[in-house]
Amino acid sequence: MMKNVLIAYMSYFGNSKKCAVLFDQDLKSRGFETQLVSIKDNEKPSGEWDTLVVFSPVRIGRVVGKTRKFIRKLDGSGKNFALVISHAADLDHRFSPVKPTEKLQARMVEKGMMKAADPTYIRVLSNEGPPVEGFEDTLRELADSLENSQQ
Ligand SMILES: Cc1cc2nc3c(=O)[nH]c(=O)nc-3n(C[C@H](O)[C@H](O)[C@H](O)COP(=O)(O)O)c2cc1C
Repeated sequence: MMKNVLIAYMSYFGNSKKCAVLFDQDLKSRGFETQLVSIKDNEKPSGEWDTLVVFSPVRIGRVVGKTRKFIRKLDGSGKNFALVISHAADLDHRFSPVKPTEKLQARMVEKGMMKAADPTYIRVLSNEGPPVEGFEDTLRELADSLENSQQ
C-alpha cells in the first residue's frame, strides 16, 4: 500500500506547484508510482492510486474553492490522504491556515478517506512567495512519513 500516489495541486503564484513538483520527484526517487495533476487545468487522475497528496494555498481563511471542489467531486472512499497547505499568515493569526485545513480534513474523513499524515504547512514570505527557507526539508519529512507508514 501507499506505493501509488496521486499528487494534485492548485496554485496561483506557483508556490504550491513548485512544492508538488519537488515532492513528486522525491517520491519517484523512493520508488513510488506517482501521477501529478493540476486542479486549475482540470486534469483528471487516471488509473490506480491509493494515496492522495493535495497541495493548495489558503486564501481569506479558507482552502481555496477550486481545491475544495476537486475533493468534493473525487471518488476517494477507502483511500489515504495528506494535505500540504501554503500560507502567508502565522499559524496563530486570525487568517491562520490551521482551522480551514482541519475543516477540509474532516470533510475528507466524512467521504471515507483516511488521514495518512498530519497536515504540512508551507509558509511563503509574501503572497507571491517564495516559500521560507527549509521548505524542501519539510517536504522530505512528509515523504519519509509516507514511506515509513507502508507495510
Ligand atoms: C487574496 C489573497 C488572500 C490570502 N489569504 C490568506 C489567508 O487568509 N491566510 C494565509 O495564511 N495566507 C493567505 N494568502 C497567502 C496565500 O496563501 C499565498 O499567496 C499562497 O500560499 C501562495 O501559493 P501559490 O503560489 O501556490 O498560489 C492570501 C493571498 C491572497 C492573494
